[in-house]
Amino acid sequence: MGNANETPILSPEAVDALLGWYRSNARDLPWRHTRDPYRVWISEIMLQQTRVEAVKPYYARFLEAFPTVFDLAAAPEDRLLKLWEGLGYYSRARNLQKAAQMVVRDYGGEMPADETLLRSLPGIGDYTAGAIASIAFGLPVPAVDGNVLRVLSRAVGSRDDIADPAAKSRFRSSLRSVIPTDASAFTQSLIELGACVCVPNGDPKCAVCPLAPFCVANRDDLTAELPVKSSKKPRRIENLTVFIIRDGARTALRKRPPAGLLAGLYEYPNVRGHLSPHEVPAVIRTMGFAPLDVRRVEDAKHVFTHIEWHMIAYTVHVAPMSDGYHPPSGCYLVNAAERLSDYAIPSAFSAYTKYGTKEPNR
Ligand code: ADE
Repeated sequence: MGNANETPILSPEAVDALLGWYRSNARDLPWRHTRDPYRVWISEIMLQQTRVEAVKPYYARFLEAFPTVFDLAAAPEDRLLKLWEGLGYYSRARNLQKAAQMVVRDYGGEMPADETLLRSLPGIGDYTAGAIASIAFGLPVPAVDGNVLRVLSRAVGSRDDIADPAAKSRFRSSLRSVIPTDASAFTQSLIELGACVCVPNGDPKCAVCPLAPFCVANRDDLTAELPVKSSKKPRRIENLTVFIIRDGARTALRKRPPAGLLAGLYEYPNVRGHLSPHEVPAVIRTMGFAPLDVRRVEDAKHVFTHIEWHMIAYTVHVAPMSDGYHPPSGCYLVNAAERLSDYAIPSAFSAYTKYGTKEPNR
């Protein structure tokens, strides 16, 4: 693939068919009303691993809060994480801010119109650099994510393992030589086809696909076999015991460490392992609270990319703390009714929000 003397990955006729289809079938999405590189960048980061419908309200709120790269660069981290709350993969938000600070410092607040410089920014890899370069700047740079890999594997009948970075790299270089003048529409048309026609789950809608006349998988009835993707290793399971600790109107929250999973977010205090009810009071005392009453509530599970949390949980009523008391565990006592919603708490804990926020019944 990719040499001048080889067949191009998409013929000029296939590229035309794709662009024509995109012009009349593209969804009207908020980030398609702009070529502003800052806005395109925010949309592409939010859309990583996240559904379009889920992204829409976050995209609007985020740009209202941080309309320019300068606003994002200067934002307090807690505010940033609060705006990202529920979207998941929080390192995306922290990388966005680091990159914004670099754009302000090194490029006077203008995103660089250059694939290599874009890729040197935190959180921007091959795909995102290609997406910003092509969609915002119109540069002939490929943007190949899992969806585009599916489209291309089927189109050319490739049995290469799309989980293999070398295969991805081959697709990127062969795509480079077929990018038309309107690189922006070309990138988006491949993304759109992967989202709406050559869909990730279920049968592709070949009857309405502009590439069907050019597609090897369609011709040879291979859509069920392609793309080939080697299976990932299984996720690690972590058992946790979560405590919703209340002293009357206040709930204990703890800030997670500045690096690692869910870095910098707030959580209900928790420990590794599944504790039985009689083990709970001693642990609560080590956190600096005096437990009065312990009740088991429902279990919950949360699936991250590489880890699964299997949580059991207890509500723990503790003796009232004086105002200003700061427990040795690094917990914050937050007035549940008024303030809890100011803190970014990841959706991994959403099963327990109701215990953290409701008025205590005693
Ligand atoms: N997924 C990734 N980028 C996208 C875009 N620009 N529009 C729709 N879905 C996307």
